[in-house]
Amino acid sequence: MSVSLVILAAGMGSRMNSDRPKVLHPLGGAPLLAHAMQAGAALEPERVVVVTGHGAEAVAKAALAHDPDARIVHQGEQLGTAHAVLQVRDALEGAAGDVIVLYGDTPFVSAQTLTAMIAARAHHAVVVLGFEAIDPGRYGRLVTAGDRLERIVEYKDATAAERAITLCNSGVVCADASVLFELVAEVGNANAAGEYYLTDIVALARARGLSAGVVTCPEAETLGINTRAELAAAEAAFQARARAEALDNGVTMIAPETVFFALDTAIGRDTVIWPNVVFGPGVTIESDADIRPFCHLEGCHVSRGAQVGPFARLRPGTELAEDVRVGNFVEIKNAILDAGAKVNHLSYIGDASLGAGANIGAGTVTCNYDGVMKHRTEIGAGAFIGSDTMLVAPVHVGADAMTGSGSVITQDVPAGALALARARQVNKPGLASRLRARLLALKAGSRED
Ligand code: UD1
Ligand code: MG
Repeated sequence: MSVSLVILAAGMGSRMNSDRPKVLHPLGGAPLLAHAMQAGAALEPERVVVVTGHGAEAVAKAALAHDPDARIVHQGEQLGTAHAVLQVRDALEGAAGDVIVLYGDTPFVSAQTLTAMIAARAHHAVVVLGFEAIDPGRYGRLVTAGDRLERIVEYKDATAAERAITLCNSGVVCADASVLFELVAEVGNANAAGEYYLTDIVALARARGLSAGVVTCPEAETLGINTRAELAAAEAAFQARARAEALDNGVTMIAPETVFFALDTAIGRDTVIWPNVVFGPGVTIESDADIRPFCHLEGCHVSRGAQVGPFARLRPGTELAEDVRVGNFVEIKNAILDAGAKVNHLSYIGDASLGAGANIGAGTVTCNYDGVMKHRTEIGAGAFIGSDTMLVAPVHVGADAMTGSGSVITQDVPAGALALARARQVNKPGLASRLRARLLALKAGSRED
């Protein structure tokens, strides 16, 4: 049975008090929208349609960055959730099977819950995701009779008796595509908000003699983000879950509460993460790696046995092969470090490749930027770069070559050669002592003045 996803993301989110569309605020380093898309992706949907409105261009860009096959539909005016779904009819033309409607601002709905909704479709034409609310507030209420869902009543339109119901509407709906669009087309806007409510499809289905049912999930899954405070609370919930998952997967963390994950962080078993490590988007770490305290990693791949930090920064495009060592106060960007290469202290390696076993001395810099363009530094296997070497790119250092400490390397170094590019040392016997005596005398003289 095929499934298509519709993600509603046209709302402004005025309570975020932001110039940025609500669904683009980040959670675990990824836009809120990506979380909803990822939950739905577990169903291997035939089509994914994102409804944009406020900040449409930016929202479309983020949706396509997450899933290049997603279709974007623009809702020019936000006339309600049913109106939003109706805009999608053409984009789902010819898609057989079920449609699941998700909200772009509701990031925690799990793949298991969505699977349970699909399963419940065997018994009901329309399946709604509900939850028992601790504080039902302004949520829509689910009016049931036995295991049947009769209708959904929005808070604004509810009687006191209906407001006493604690079984609430999450907003997630599943129905057969053709049935869904027929029902949605019938929805009117004669209600307290003057909006086209998607929730009205339940009563419309019942009026046709179709059955509607409820699947429930924990309230935590239905958490929607409306304010910065809710975003911060959601971040805490996301991190707690990501830490628990990493521990379950066999990652050791000494102080998990100080480690921050992104939506797509992947870490192999027996890797050790020390305290105060932050993972930005796009990080994969294989088994048995050691990420020491106070590191920031983003867009990088760390292989088995590699050691990073303390105090290291791995930026996008960093690829560390097995047993590489990256030590304190080292920044690496867009660089490939082959097996066993070492950059242990105070260095910047950008737009570079290091051969296997290459050793980079303390304070080395790949001078990759000329103010206009970026250039590459290539260092061969087994090369030894002396401390405080400036490698002015583009430049190539051959295998097993060496550079003298303090060299400014502007020309290629052949394999096996030693490059010295610094002033020759001259010693002047006794000159330091004489100079100091003269300076002390000058200072004493100036005090008498
Ligand atoms: C909706 C439900 C309510 C449910 C609640 C759960 C309706 C009528 N009500 O109410 O029963 O308890 O969610 O959070 O559906 N959107 C569009 N285009 C529109 C209107 C909304 O794309 O024209 C999007 C919004 O960006 C948002 C989602 O749909 O992602 C829900 O809209 P919102 O206005 O938040 O609905 P609620 O009033 O919260
Ligand atoms: Mg809402």
